[in-house]
Amino acid sequence: MLSGCAGRVCHVLVLVLCLSAAEDFDWTKNDRGSFYYGTFPTGFSWGAGSSAYQTEGAWDKDGKGLSIWDVFSHKKGKVFLNDTGDYACEGYYKLKDDISLLKELNLNHYRFSISWPRVIPTGIRSDHVNEKGIKYYDTLIDQLLENKITPIVTLYHWDLPQVLQEKYGGWQNISMVNYFNDFASLCFERFGNRVKHWITFNNPWSVAVEGYETGEHAPGLKLRGTGAYRAAHHIIKAHAKVWHTYDNQWRNKQNGVVGISLSGDWGEPVDITNLKDIEAAERYVQFYLGWFATPVFHGDYPQVMKDFVGRKSAQQGLGTSRLPTFSSQEKSYIKGTCDFLGVGHFTTRYITQKTYPPGRGSTYFADRDLAELVDPRWPDPGSEWLYSVPWGFRRLLNFVKTQYGNPMIYITENGVSEKMKCTELCDDWRIQYYKDYINEMLKAIRDGVNVKGYTAWSLLDKFEWDEGFSERFGLYYVDFKNKNKPRYPKASVQFYKRIINFNGFPNLREVENWKRKATETCSSSNQLLAAEEQRSTAANILRLIHDPLTSHMEMVTEIVVPTVCTLCILISAVFLMFLLSRRN
Ligand SMILES: *[C@@H]1O[C@H](CO)[C@@H](O)[C@H](O)[C@H]1NC(C)=O
Ligand SMILES: *[C@@H]1O[C@H](CO)[C@@H](O)[C@H](O)[C@H]1NC(C)=O
Repeated sequence: MLSGCAGRVCHVLVLVLCLSAAEDFDWTKNDRGSFYYGTFPTGFSWGAGSSAYQTEGAWDKDGKGLSIWDVFSHKKGKVFLNDTGDYACEGYYKLKDDISLLKELNLNHYRFSISWPRVIPTGIRSDHVNEKGIKYYDTLIDQLLENKITPIVTLYHWDLPQVLQEKYGGWQNISMVNYFNDFASLCFERFGNRVKHWITFNNPWSVAVEGYETGEHAPGLKLRGTGAYRAAHHIIKAHAKVWHTYDNQWRNKQNGVVGISLSGDWGEPVDITNLKDIEAAERYVQFYLGWFATPVFHGDYPQVMKDFVGRKSAQQGLGTSRLPTFSSQEKSYIKGTCDFLGVGHFTTRYITQKTYPPGRGSTYFADRDLAELVDPRWPDPGSEWLYSVPWGFRRLLNFVKTQYGNPMIYITENGVSEKMKCTELCDDWRIQYYKDYINEMLKAIRDGVNVKGYTAWSLLDKFEWDEGFSERFGLYYVDFKNKNKPRYPKASVQFYKRIINFNGFPNLREVENWKRKATETCSSSNQLLAAEEQRSTAANILRLIHDPLTSHMEMVTEIVVPTVCTLCILISAVFLMFLLSRRN
């Protein structure tokens, strides 16, 4: 009795201490500032990233099992132009080539993901471990280390084994926690002697919302108002379990760190003097990054999520909230399971209060009671959703610092795409994006945010999920029409490399110089690409003659017609010259 009481007093004391220690993020402080010239702390780690399904290809090779993305992309109408990741960048076969690209950039780290069904075809470890899959990642890791590039490894970048989806309903089912933990343990066992940075999940927001709420991503379920919350609940538990497994069984031997990579756009109040807008903006961020970060740092969902989803559920006449709850035991188990936080960030929104009436479709989005707006003056060179708003990055990083006790941060994704069919290697807009976003990160570090590394997203153009190959995020251009998937450097490669080599930005003149030099070199790369595309066109014509299986109609319109036209023009020119010479 007495000890129980004392315990409670302690608890209250701890709570009070926590509350007074937590600095509040100041939503009204909005200093956008000018460009800052200076350097990053010594030892700052520069990298680039990729993920298995987006780049590897070899979807059914060497004993790999099916993932939910193999099945989803093979269904017609799910992915733009019905594209699939069957071949993607053929990264599975081009390991040496890609490592030479990483070396070319002088990178300190490379972030990639392990395909769960490549190493455990059914997803269940006791069924079968695929040694050929293990061998592929062994080789990748060894070659990175030989080249002094640190591997940062993601365990779950969205490619759940299909068997687990079919048998259990995927992340809707609590049994995923143990299967994922078995998979993670296998990875620690086989790779942990060399891999010291582990990311459990990449962008679980997307897995939950797009996979189980809107259905735009695999497995394509539309369980509105409940599916995303349940998936997220199990993902958070799975993350915590894997962190504890590492902490208990491997940390002593392997001395690595385990974190999670969360994506979050920044939300800025439309009217900085309006309390309703400020609260709406905070809800936007709490329902996004905070949904996952608050449990792993503080043990439970953000209060504002519990309040809003709870109230909306009650208005619907539900007995319990659609947002699941953690028991007190689970809360203490989950709290603090993050050695570092991976932050993926691309863009910003203006946010205003907007009340959704109860009953009118209870969804994750309606639960937030807000509207998202963009400034039409913001540049949007690529994906529809991706506006370049560099100052939002600094504000998000400061938010993370104040909300979660200044954790160690790795930027796990930041970059920009370009519009379809753009073979332009002179990507000056990407140079601008990287320059400004990396500069805002430097300012955040000067604000005291503990950022240890930066990962440009992405190394290569790749399969962009439901957008197929129509959006290109790469520093390197990939010619997807060519069977060999050759890579070509965009101008941003040169620019990023100079930032890395200087470890920051020296002065206006130098940085302008970098930009000029980078765009100069890209015109020769452009010529190389054009020449290669011509060569592969010629090769295709030869294949057309010798390979009866090729689709003739397509070849006729795409290749033969222009070739015949060119030949006609050439012959006419020769004929004309012949006529002219006879006249003389
Ligand atoms: C994708 O497949 C669907 C269903 O077969 C078809 O209606 C659609 O035209 C296809 N789209 C493209 C771009 O081929
Ligand atoms: C989880 O999987 C088990 C075993 O197949 C099944 O009995 C249960 O109904 C599943 N739960 C959900 C929520 O799908």
